[in-house]
Amino acid sequence: MNAKFHYINHACFMIEKNGSAIIFDPFLDGNPEGLQANDIKVDYIFISHGHFDHLGSAFEIAKNCDATIISTAEICGLAEAAGCKAHGMHLGGTFMFPFGKVRIAMAFHGSGVPGGHACGFVVDFYGTKVYFAGDTALYSDMQLLPQLDPFDYAVLPIGGNFTMDPKDAAVAAKFLQAKYVIPVHYNTWPPIAQDVNAYKADVEATTSSKVLVVKPGETIELE
Ligand code: NI
Ligand code: MN
Repeated sequence: MNAKFHYINHACFMIEKNGSAIIFDPFLDGNPEGLQANDIKVDYIFISHGHFDHLGSAFEIAKNCDATIISTAEICGLAEAAGCKAHGMHLGGTFMFPFGKVRIAMAFHGSGVPGGHACGFVVDFYGTKVYFAGDTALYSDMQLLPQLDPFDYAVLPIGGNFTMDPKDAAVAAKFLQAKYVIPVHYNTWPPIAQDVNAYKADVEATTSSKVLVVKPGETIELE
């Protein structure tokens, strides 16, 4: 069965496969489907860092559906203190979950929690391999990621101001060499307004990656 990619809004998306679901950075405010925390049914919740637009409703969702939070040790410490199940990892760490392997990738960004560090994830979800960069600046060691754990999809922030802008995210696409790039973290607010079609044209002209423009609320099938 193919995996489904459901873009909720901002940096929040779900992947569903084999009757199981995972969600990334569940910030639900303003999502066009009007989804609330109790509408979300998932088995695992990935949190890249503690900023409000990423932590979002994570703890509420985790408690509602007894899902396990996967994040850095600091975010998982907060999650456990809030009564959630959590599996703490850290930068460069890998672990084999029942669905497949997870690697915690570096992200150069604020952690949003004392003593923490922002992160990204390389996730093999029942054979669907995805890199989610989280919020990050462009950094050259990104090019090591596909050598460590190959992936077909790179979910990248392109909004600028807080993260890579389209120009930097096009360099990231060159480094990552994924078959597909899915842009996120843009157009949510005026400071991160971007022309996603210009980004698509740029990446497709300068790399062999195809850019999948998914609108908030839309679901696409992955390979
Ligand atoms: Ni952030
Ligand atoms: Mn953010």
